[in-house]
Amino acid sequence: MRVLSGIQPTGNLHLGNYLGAIRNWVRMQDEMDADSQCFFFLADMHSITVHEGREQRIRNVRDMAAALVAAGIDPDRSVLFNQARVPAHAELCWLLNGTARIGWLNRMTQFKDKAGKDREGASVGLFVYPVLQAADILIYNATHVPVGEDQKQHLELCRDIATKFNTDFGVDLFTLPAPIIPKESARIMSLRDGTAKMSKSDPSDMSRINLTDDDDAIMAKVKKAKSDQELLPETAEGLTGRPEASNLVGILATLTGRTTDAVCAEFAGKGFGAFKPALGEVLVETLRPIRQRFLELRTEDAALDAILDKGAAKAAAAAEPTLRAAYDAMGLMR
Ligand code: AMP
Ligand code: TRP
Repeated sequence: MRVLSGIQPTGNLHLGNYLGAIRNWVRMQDEMDADSQCFFFLADMHSITVHEGREQRIRNVRDMAAALVAAGIDPDRSVLFNQARVPAHAELCWLLNGTARIGWLNRMTQFKDKAGKDREGASVGLFVYPVLQAADILIYNATHVPVGEDQKQHLELCRDIATKFNTDFGVDLFTLPAPIIPKESARIMSLRDGTAKMSKSDPSDMSRINLTDDDDAIMAKVKKAKSDQELLPETAEGLTGRPEASNLVGILATLTGRTTDAVCAEFAGKGFGAFKPALGEVLVETLRPIRQRFLELRTEDAALDAILDKGAAKAAAAAEPTLRAAYDAMGLMR
């Protein structure tokens, strides 16, 4: 088993990232056997599709590294690095640009969302972003890729690229990766609108719980979260058509490792006045230790850089054979 996943180091981690992705990374790392390996990286090469100044970008990479370690990624057991330090990603991306089709990329919903109305004004990098993502995965022959629901389409594209490359060049080089998408928390929704994803780009900070929010802020956000006037139902079925209620119940279920049915059973017949403080309490207790470790670690730049140095060396060594074989398959003399 080779587990791999990445996250863009832009802005702070929020509850959606934690429950939808990072917590599963930590679980997979912790359940790994001796033959398996985990690679987790900061997708700083992907982050050039978001404009940021030099100093901010440097800070963001260190902060995201600190956040991942604080959340439980152990740099001694997992390979933790930033993508820019391993040029094999960019090199393989270029090779795969010969394989990926414009028609495939045109179907990517994340590009459409991120480019918005001004498609012509979007960067080329944003358009080919999924090809770099495919390279990230294929360069390590990753078998399992834990991500949130929104990355499913990119994983399918990665499989298409791998299959076409293998067929076109008559090789059995790339492994087809499987997305690992959590059932319960694949989509954590905004606290202000149960139909929109919790996102770092939402202009309202009240819409999300950030890893940096203190206990009072977390509690205040939960208490102000949009809900509805109805009482909580006996079973999860009664949450149908109630997006905000579903989201809040779903978050508590995920945090406590229970089903939504079990959470409904506990609060059946009660209103959100009773439910919200209980949810807030669990959130505060879950996030406090992570936040405290994060705030300490982020001041230790030298230690963070040393972690990333070590990770990059291991990643580069693991990537080299695949890159060499890809050049060779294409008849490029390297
Ligand atoms: P992003 O912050 O969009 O770069 O996403 C980083 C990781 O967090 C990806 O694996 C996403 O699928 C996951 N993720 C982001 N937002 C959410 C959300 N609201 N619910 C669940 N997972 C999310
Ligand atoms: N595109 C992913 C996101 O927005 C981040 C990412 C980049 C990634 N490369 C990857 C995720 C490779 C998994 C595997 O969240």
